[in-house]
Amino acid sequence: MRKRRDWLGKQYHKLSMPLSVVFLLSGRRFHPQYRMTWRRKWALGRRLYRNWRHIRTGISYKGHLAIAAKLLEIPPSVKGVVVECGCWLGGTTANLSVICDLVGRDLVVYDSFEGLPAPLAGDNMKPEVKGSFRGDLDVVRQNVREYGVIERCTFRKGWFSDTLSSHAEPIVLCFVDVDLKSSMHDCVVSLWPYLTPKGYLFFDEYTLLHNCAIFFSERFWRDYLGTTPPGLMGSGTGVGVGQYFLGPWLESPAIQRPTSLAYTRKDFNGRWDYFPESETASEPPAN
Ligand SMILES: C[S@@+](CC[C@H](N)C(=O)[O-])C[C@H]1O[C@@H](n2cnc3c(N)ncnc32)[C@H](O)[C@@H]1O
Repeated sequence: MRKRRDWLGKQYHKLSMPLSVVFLLSGRRFHPQYRMTWRRKWALGRRLYRNWRHIRTGISYKGHLAIAAKLLEIPPSVKGVVVECGCWLGGTTANLSVICDLVGRDLVVYDSFEGLPAPLAGDNMKPEVKGSFRGDLDVVRQNVREYGVIERCTFRKGWFSDTLSSHAEPIVLCFVDVDLKSSMHDCVVSLWPYLTPKGYLFFDEYTLLHNCAIFFSERFWRDYLGTTPPGLMGSGTGVGVGQYFLGPWLESPAIQRPTSLAYTRKDFNGRWDYFPESETASEPPAN
């Protein structure tokens, strides 16, 4: 049953690849300096698809294409790196490094390279998850060397609670795929201040509404970042990458597999402000 489901999923991805490239890379706001002719778009789509078939990843190449589309819109004059938090075997890292090379940016990768840490009480996860998704640094480097552009990458090894506080570069796009609430907390608190005004924070846990909730929590954004929540585009169903997901069930038919992602930006507003009984109902958002 599982084999058949995997086979069906592969066929679906293969057949929908050309259409996905057309839909996801047909943006009219790509910066002209990147010279994204259809020939170059097609070459990018094929390379991301091929890489994705070679290295196991948590998200699909369609998610990588959606990230590429946003990076291609950011003018080269905006200074900043791309950051990946949580890389496992480096499947997404390889593709991000290819996209970074196209837009002339560096990629900074944060991971323990020892898998997930032991969950904390608030994570509501079983202790057995410790060590899951382990990808040794040598394995990740080798994968990126073979399929990506290793020269674009800097690897920062260690637990987020130790490494992220030393981050110093502006960030035009950050991809967070770290599974635990405690890890998400560290990533958002430490890296959000470095996000450029129209930079993107992409997030993998979009089907898990209790994780998406961080982007709508007034208490979290007030206490840790002194602002209001930005919300999250795609929470629950993911951004449109040529798949569909009718949650909340994670066990679903092959082409319903949830392999999309969600994103937010500093200039988004996820704060509810309609309180008819209150005189201060229409205060403008603080961010
Ligand atoms: C689901 S995997 C990432 C999958 C990857 N993004 C992909 O597309 O294939 C989660 C990763 O987060 C890392 N991670 C989670 N919490 C961490 C923490 N607190 N410190 C360092 N690494 C962490 C794990 O080591 C693991 O590599």
